[in-house]
Amino acid sequence: MRILVVGSGGREHALVWKIAQSKLVDKIFCAPGNGGISQLAECVDIKADNIPGLLEFARKEKIDLTVVGPEASLVAGMVDEFSHYKLPVFGPQKKAAQLEQSKAFAKQLMMHYGVPTANFRVFVNIDEAKKYIGARGAPCVIKADGLAQGKGVVVAKTIEEANRAANNMLVNRIFGDAGKRIIVEDCLVGQEASILCFTDSKVIVPLVTSQDHKRIFDNDLGPNTGGMGAYSPAPVVTKELFDEIVQKVFNRILAGLNAERIEYRGILYAGIMLTKSGPQVLEFNVRFGDPETQVILPRLKTDLVEVMLAVVNQKLSRYPTLEWDERACVCVVCAAKGYPGEYAKDKEIFGLDEAAKLPDVVVFHAGTKKMGNKIVTSGGRVLGVTGLGATIKEAINKTYQAVEKIKFEGMQYRKDIGGKALKF
Ligand code: AMP
Ligand code: GLY
Repeated sequence: MRILVVGSGGREHALVWKIAQSKLVDKIFCAPGNGGISQLAECVDIKADNIPGLLEFARKEKIDLTVVGPEASLVAGMVDEFSHYKLPVFGPQKKAAQLEQSKAFAKQLMMHYGVPTANFRVFVNIDEAKKYIGARGAPCVIKADGLAQGKGVVVAKTIEEANRAANNMLVNRIFGDAGKRIIVEDCLVGQEASILCFTDSKVIVPLVTSQDHKRIFDNDLGPNTGGMGAYSPAPVVTKELFDEIVQKVFNRILAGLNAERIEYRGILYAGIMLTKSGPQVLEFNVRFGDPETQVILPRLKTDLVEVMLAVVNQKLSRYPTLEWDERACVCVVCAAKGYPGEYAKDKEIFGLDEAAKLPDVVVFHAGTKKMGNKIVTSGGRVLGVTGLGATIKEAINKTYQAVEKIKFEGMQYRKDIGGKALKF
């Protein structure tokens, strides 16, 4: 089979790496890919949001399966376009991608179909929003309705902070049209976990649990990022909680989507807060998580391409369970100086081969590119150094040993990835 993976981050490198292990696969292309991906796939210079360009490429190259990484391509209707030309493609259609595209849509669907989530109201008018915030009190959470690259959420400790966030979104439009509607939501307290499922719109097949680290600095301090590291499994999610989440979150949302005649095929990702009164959904994503994918796929033993084809062809019931490596997996993101703000680029990266030689270690590239014989930085999140171990502790040790082999000017990374899992 000829496979096309769309995207250029650490998630896409992990996807390409896993797809390359499939017996079904002869050739992998990645658009646009990165320095690490180019070692496993042929990178083609077409941007992930260039749907006509990707369509033309897939038709010309007779691609048997296209796997879409980023949400923006899904929201823009890439799957609808490919399906129109009978090109098999893994990911939800535009209508289903609304679950991530609009937080108001997702919240309303959750409320309607009994999926546990924080109380909320939707506003387009700043005075009404402020009135509600004043009456409801702080802390509360202000969210831009649309896609804002993970930056559209403010957990406000005071009413003033909440009003300012609402004003910035609705009036100053700091997120453009993504902030023309906002959600004001009750603040939840607890540990977070990411739960991802495959679904073909008929059945749900969950993946193993994981946990992301969103803040830039150790001990969850500093601004939010795209994710500074992850680990799997997340021991905070007990078997009972896991079953409760499948039942109350995934089964109910799927029933809701089907009742609304929205067919969902692909990965469905729920960000969950484990509160004292049970699991509550923070958000849905309509794609693989980044960096969660980097710790989930190294544990997957089942052929990923077979499962993806089963999703596309609505035959997922053939895979009631997936086979998993029992070991734990940890991913530490090495980021450029200045990230998540303005950051430096084109810094040469040293030690990649030494790190990759260590047993049970894979270095996924996120923001890198090849420049002659060198690999240089080209993004904020540069690498996802990933290690497997018999326990989380062993996986942490292996991963940090590998991180210490790698150097580039200004490299920053968290020293406490996986630490929370050690408390169990
Ligand atoms: P979201 O993009 O909706 O997942 O929000 C990003 C982050 O904001 C989450 O990972 C949480 O840490 C935090 N957050 C979102 N909603 C809430 C909430 N209702 N209560 C507390 N924290 C929240
Ligand atoms: N790790 C969070 C996300 O992929 O949205």
